[in-house]
Amino acid sequence: MTSSSAANPGRTPADVDLSVAIGALRFRNPIIAASGTFGYGLEFAQLVHLNRLGGFVTKGLSLQPIEGAPAPRLCETPSGMLNAVGLQNVGVRAFVEQKLPLLRKFEVPVFANIFGYCQQDYVEVIRILEDAEGLAGYELNISCPNVKKGGLQFGNDPSAAGEVVRLARKAAARRPLWVKLSPLVADIGLMAVTAEAEGADALTVANTYPAMAVDYRTRMSRLGNPTGGLSGPAIKPITLRLVWVASKAVKIPVVGLGGIETASDVLDYILMGASAVQVGTASFTDPQASEQLSASLREAVFDSNLFSINELRGKFLAENG
Ligand SMILES: Cc1cc2nc3c(=O)[nH]c(=O)nc-3n(C[C@H](O)[C@H](O)[C@H](O)COP(=O)(O)O)c2cc1C
Repeated sequence: MTSSSAANPGRTPADVDLSVAIGALRFRNPIIAASGTFGYGLEFAQLVHLNRLGGFVTKGLSLQPIEGAPAPRLCETPSGMLNAVGLQNVGVRAFVEQKLPLLRKFEVPVFANIFGYCQQDYVEVIRILEDAEGLAGYELNISCPNVKKGGLQFGNDPSAAGEVVRLARKAAARRPLWVKLSPLVADIGLMAVTAEAEGADALTVANTYPAMAVDYRTRMSRLGNPTGGLSGPAIKPITLRLVWVASKAVKIPVVGLGGIETASDVLDYILMGASAVQVGTASFTDPQASEQLSASLREAVFDSNLFSINELRGKFLAENG
């Protein structure tokens, strides 16, 4: 049976407008699968209707292929997960040659997540992608906590972050540039303002939190690496605050992510100012999580008597907080 709204008889969830705009790009809904948790999209194509997602972000791409960290790479923690994948990826050239052509048959915005060991790496990766067709934009990861020199030096230091964003912006002439911030910074507002000033089109807030899990019996890490990045529901309250602070600091759109599992989680992030969200760890529990979230989100927005998800964005009443 189709439900209808008491406040608006005859109205059904199908009438809800879930579409969002981030800069010049329009997304059919605000659910984007997060980098590192959705492969290159192709791995999920048999399980998920990719065309029903708002979009997805590829695994981080580097100039050269990277084999990644030793196993185990994942371990469960209370209400969360630790990972130390070590940025394994096929390298940007193989992505362009082997993965991107297969992705072109889908009607879903694909963002290439980019990282480098130095500024020039970021620029080179973007230059190679600029010559390729089939991408909606770039997401610059200046926040990876796993690999030595893997971006943390940019993500922690406003002037280094500003410099890499400026160079990336220059290289990214064709497409929008999103900058993914590290959550472990003294002042997320300052990082957000710096990225905006250097030309970021949107911010992704945020990456995982450096963390560890050990076993006192073996006296070893539960990961192949001593430390990893914490994700999942455990981080949601911390990242939610970062999204609030970052959204207030800048005019460009903010994409929120951290621990999203339910439609309420999505709406919490939208309330704090996010224009869209990304879903990461939830895809490990259920590969169809992102697709199902778009359906449950429609119901939740309808139940809140809203016509459009955008009506809620940034409407947090601080005096109640
Ligand atoms: C296994 C794994 C691999 C990840 N790889 C990347 C990556 O390559 N680039 C990146 O920017 N973020 C990466 N992330 C971070 C996620 O995109 C996301 O920021 C983080 O997991 C928080 O969201 P969540 O709590 O929904 O998982 C990775 C996360 C996980 C769990």
